[in-house]
Amino acid sequence: MSDRPVAVVTGASSGIGAASARALARAGFEVVLGARRADRLIEVAAECGGTPLPLDVTDEASVAAFASRLDRCDVLVNNAGGAFGLASVAEADLDDWQRMYDVNVLGTVRVTKALLPLLLASGDGQVITIASIAAHEPYPGGAGYNAAKHAEAALTRVLRLELLGRPVRVCEIDPGMVDTEFSLVRFEGDRDRADAVYRGMTPLTADDVAESVAWVATRPAHVNVDRLTIMPRDQAAAQIVHRVEG
Ligand SMILES: NC(=O)c1ccc[n+]([C@@H]2O[C@H](COP(=O)([O-])OP(=O)(O)OC[C@H]3O[C@@H](n4cnc5c(N)ncnc54)[C@H](OP(=O)(O)O)[C@@H]3O)[C@@H](O)[C@H]2O)c1
Repeated sequence: MSDRPVAVVTGASSGIGAASARALARAGFEVVLGARRADRLIEVAAECGGTPLPLDVTDEASVAAFASRLDRCDVLVNNAGGAFGLASVAEADLDDWQRMYDVNVLGTVRVTKALLPLLLASGDGQVITIASIAAHEPYPGGAGYNAAKHAEAALTRVLRLELLGRPVRVCEIDPGMVDTEFSLVRFEGDRDRADAVYRGMTPLTADDVAESVAWVATRPAHVNVDRLTIMPRDQAAAQIVHRVEG
């Protein structure tokens, strides 16, 4: 068993997850990184001296194999997730809805359930879930992602209630616009469409969000940061964004 506290980060092969793994390593955690793209995961793990383990949060057997490799977990960052498409309800692609529910909601439940015994055994565990402002603010075209993130936030808030009196803290972090591969994934690799999301404004970086993850993870044991919403200065609501044309 590690003599340093262990932080497990899902979806650590890119974006907020990769930056969180680096930030947690800098904060003194031994980091275990999970994601599907092994090459990318190995690269990020090497940068932060962490352990890369294959993980598909939508696959029960993969989560069980991942969990079986751990003998300690002090912090779990439920970060794996994302959006697929921007279709209206009238045009909803139910396969996309299903995929969003699988990765954001069931994936988070699956990993949390698998690691809860270790988090409890640590004597001071923490679950930090990366939901989104989409978890409390609906926007046109966002219904599938809104529904999934609302559900992910709901399960996180229920977990906080259910763990009251037990030694596991629960935090929901809700970022606004962050420049990662998120939009590229949402628009199936359409680079122009993805770039247009951030055109003329300054989004958050993955490091901006990761700093909050590390800050939450290093509060004293009696402090539970319940919910954090973090937006770029140029964004005041899900779709209220200040842009400079040019
Ligand atoms: N970027 C934003 O504007 C924004 C805003 C609010 C919230 N968020 C949330 O922040 C989280 C991280 O997203 P990001 O912005 O950093 O986007 P990203 O760069 O696309 O990262 C998503 C990560 O999730 C992993 N992932 C996806 N499906 C997975 C699965 N089935 N099993 C395991 N890992 C999986 C990906 O790794 P593999 O593909 O290698 O598996 C990748 O590492 C997501 O939950 C997203 O909804 C993002």
